[in-house]
Amino acid sequence: MKNIFLIGFMGSGKSSVGKQLSEGLNCDYIDTDTIIETTHNKTIPEIFAREGEASFRKYESNALHNIPTENCVVSTGGGIVERSSNIDQMVETGIIVYLETDFRTIDKRLQFDTSRPLWRKNKDEKKQLYDRRIHLYQSCAAITVSTDNKLIDDLVFQITSQV
Ligand code: S3P
Repeated sequence: MKNIFLIGFMGSGKSSVGKQLSEGLNCDYIDTDTIIETTHNKTIPEIFAREGEASFRKYESNALHNIPTENCVVSTGGGIVERSSNIDQMVETGIIVYLETDFRTIDKRLQFDTSRPLWRKNKDEKKQLYDRRIHLYQSCAAITVSTDNKLIDDLVFQITSQV
């Protein structure tokens, strides 16, 4: 099976959907954020605070580069699309599934979240980041599923029937 890359904004449900999707497809589950934290033995907020976003992006590309070439469902960080080389790699080696989620839904889901350094900005900056990113997600996805008001089971079913 070709790898399946789940992309989408922070809080779109990539990890929850990814875990369940991998169980349904009976394949491995990989989360690029978890690889980064394990490899560097630091949390993502620690990496952002001590080394900055540029280092994090380097680690993220390395994590993506080193995953197995097939039979995996891969949940990516929301900023994986910030590097065009990451997009190229995902397009060339797998099927990209975009979990599309309304900004208001994200804002509600992440209102108490403190684990995402780029979610600590003010609302205008967050909306700008969201608006810029959706074009990137849309431009590389082979499959798009809307997650608003959907159960994880439904999303998994929808993706499984399209890949
Ligand atoms: C980021 C998203 C996060 C994590 C890091 C940066 C981003 O992952 O990779 O905080 O730039 O959008 P999630 O999308 O899983 O929250």
